[in-house]
Amino acid sequence: MTVTIVGSQLGDEGKGGIVDLYGDDVDVVARYQGGDNAGHTVVHEGEEYKLSLVPSGAIRGKVGVLGNGCVVNPRTLFDEIDTLQERGLDPDVRIAERAHVILPFHRVLDGIEEELKSETDDEVGTTGRGIGPTYEDKAGRRGVRVGDLLDPDVLRERLEYVVPQKRAVVEDVYDLDVDELDDPDAFDVDAIFEEFREFGRRFEAEDMTVNAGAFLSATIDEGQNVMLEGAQGTIIDIDHGNYPYVTSSNPTAGGAATGTGLSPGVVGDGEVIGIVKAYLTRVGSGPLPTELGGVVGDTPGYDEQGEGENEELANYIREEGGEYGTVTGRPRRVGWLDLPMLRHSTRVSGFTGIAINHLDVLAGLDEVKVGHTYTLDGEELASMPATTEQWKRCEANFKSFDGWPEVDWADAADGGYDALPENAKGYVEYIESELDTPAYAIGVGPGRGETIVREQPF
Ligand code: IMP
Repeated sequence: MTVTIVGSQLGDEGKGGIVDLYGDDVDVVARYQGGDNAGHTVVHEGEEYKLSLVPSGAIRGKVGVLGNGCVVNPRTLFDEIDTLQERGLDPDVRIAERAHVILPFHRVLDGIEEELKSETDDEVGTTGRGIGPTYEDKAGRRGVRVGDLLDPDVLRERLEYVVPQKRAVVEDVYDLDVDELDDPDAFDVDAIFEEFREFGRRFEAEDMTVNAGAFLSATIDEGQNVMLEGAQGTIIDIDHGNYPYVTSSNPTAGGAATGTGLSPGVVGDGEVIGIVKAYLTRVGSGPLPTELGGVVGDTPGYDEQGEGENEELANYIREEGGEYGTVTGRPRRVGWLDLPMLRHSTRVSGFTGIAINHLDVLAGLDEVKVGHTYTLDGEELASMPATTEQWKRCEANFKSFDGWPEVDWADAADGGYDALPENAKGYVEYIESELDTPAYAIGVGPGRGETIVREQPF
């Protein structure tokens, strides 16, 4: 069977911890979208590993698959694999032949476009990893796929078509001189061919490429368990998120089918677990109706740090929760939990269960609030509106909860659900009831043992 893990908010909900938690019963972990814009930290046998492409299960001896919906930067991938090997691990990672390759010019173009947009404060705040430009080329039918790296003739042909176009974009659209860029080789067919052909040879020599759909279906037919691991979150989904402040793929459950080659029926027959952080964080630009404080450069219209109404509270939660980007190190924007957002996410992906993380971070506050509904143009909304312009105008109607005390969270995790402080349970039960979805797991600390497990999905 499959268990699909989906971020219900804006990414960084702690998906990695839940993948890890349920990972013992898993044979294969497959990612279905995104690339090295994601970041997760795995602690294994006392060692900490920071990864952005290698699926966390691969550290624990499982097979890790990067599905066809992913965009793969082989530089990052092999850096991670080499580092893991130097540290004595031997990760088994398979890459879909249909996955698209992030080429050097994609990163450069990501940077140029963001820079240009920043002149009018319109930047998305991307991770700069070339994600958007690579998916653009995929949709534009001019991308290079992992399978192409294995065939020198096809690789050269594709590069000779696409690279001159990108040069022209830099020179004619952005009015920049390629030779004056930091990395002019990013636009040189021969340089790219040499480097990426070598990656292709390594993929071949190490037998790393697969037809992901066929591979995963066979795995399931053999009775093995497959975890489908989403990166990012619902509100930065290109279709269901707050466009254009989104990533360029589908982190929602539909993406698990298209991004792996498993049918929607197979995904829907399994469990779909929505990962919910007990409050909200956001990296990059775009609205956030329950935002506390603000982050200069990311919060729209926020020009001076310290100006936010609830700045102290935001700083407190940011520090307690370690809310800084894994990939970029940027401070994350912080807000109260947003129920209209979660109702939207639950509907889009059909969560069969949720996991609520970071409940411990809110401990010690006198009052914990949630955005229960929105008001837009005098009307009360229970879910998010479809346009970002409308979402920007939504005002959150808050519901207030009495806070819960700091306790020994490792003990609480050992003691199970009943060991949680009463008010924390009230908060969990409110979320479950509003989403009509049971909480399968409750995270009360960063460690593997600091999660209360109420349901084993496999
Ligand atoms: P991109 O995916 O680098 O193109 O970035 C697009 C938007 O998604 C930006 O607002 C990023 O901050 C956001 N984003 C991308 N990956 C992550 C992630 O793993 N966690 C949180 N936000 C992300």
